[in-house]
Amino acid sequence: LKIMISGAPASGKGTQCELITKKYELVHIAPGDLLRAEVAAGTENGRCAKEYMENGQLVPDEIVVMMVKDRLLQSDAQEKGWLLDGYPRSSSQATVLKEFGFQPDLFILLEVSEEILVERVVGRRLDPVTGRIYHLKYSPPETEEIAARLTQRFDDTEEKVKLRLCTHHQNVEAVLSLYEDITVKVNGSASKHVVFAQIDSTMTKLL
Ligand code: AP5
Ligand code: ZN
Repeated sequence: LKIMISGAPASGKGTQCELITKKYELVHIAPGDLLRAEVAAGTENGRCAKEYMENGQLVPDEIVVMMVKDRLLQSDAQEKGWLLDGYPRSSSQATVLKEFGFQPDLFILLEVSEEILVERVVGRRLDPVTGRIYHLKYSPPETEEIAARLTQRFDDTEEKVKLRLCTHHQNVEAVLSLYEDITVKVNGSASKHVVFAQIDSTMTKLL
């Protein structure tokens, strides 16, 4: 299977990707995660990308497109199928994928109301050891050991999420129009397992 998942910041893309890959064993490719790794490693791409990420803007195609394309071309993604999280975010990003023959079977759009997004961002925590996504209220850590090592993303403030949301609104329609015939809109405001059940039933039909 080849799946794209899209939605506003904190709509639950990463969380649903954890649940999807657990069941379907697809290769999860998240440009946001790849970029944060570049920032943490202090690479040239990371230094350039950080400025855009801090302002909630799209990182230039020269950096993102190559990164995603290279990851898609690796053998595991070719063999198992892939799950693209937050890509493409512009028609130019979609065009490049098409040129390289990467056509998805399904485009999932998570729809969540804006009041919920801010609460999700402010309470989000990440486990640097496992990469798992937590929320202080909705997905609290299982043990005190995990709780003690949780970190917060540098762009997880109310102010920054509003900038990301603005960028999302500017781009989402253009991307959606390219995948209209394979798009499924999912209510992302429900609890994570209820959201997953909706996605799962759509994916099952594709097998
Ligand atoms: P990215 O990391 O993709 O950030 P984003 O799009 O803003 O989305 P988030 O990761 O914030 O949210 P999510 O939808 O994954 O939610 P999550 O599951 O974590 O991108 C970061 C930056 O990188 C961008 O701003 C841009 O600069 C750059 N970038 C990325 N892709 C790019 C591209 N294609 N082109 C150019 N630049 C790009 O959930 C959030 C919280 O809510 C968690 O705490 C979670 O536990 C909780 N939660 C999730 N689901 C539920 C639920 N159903 N109920 C209750 N709580 C829930
Ligand atoms: Zn994410």
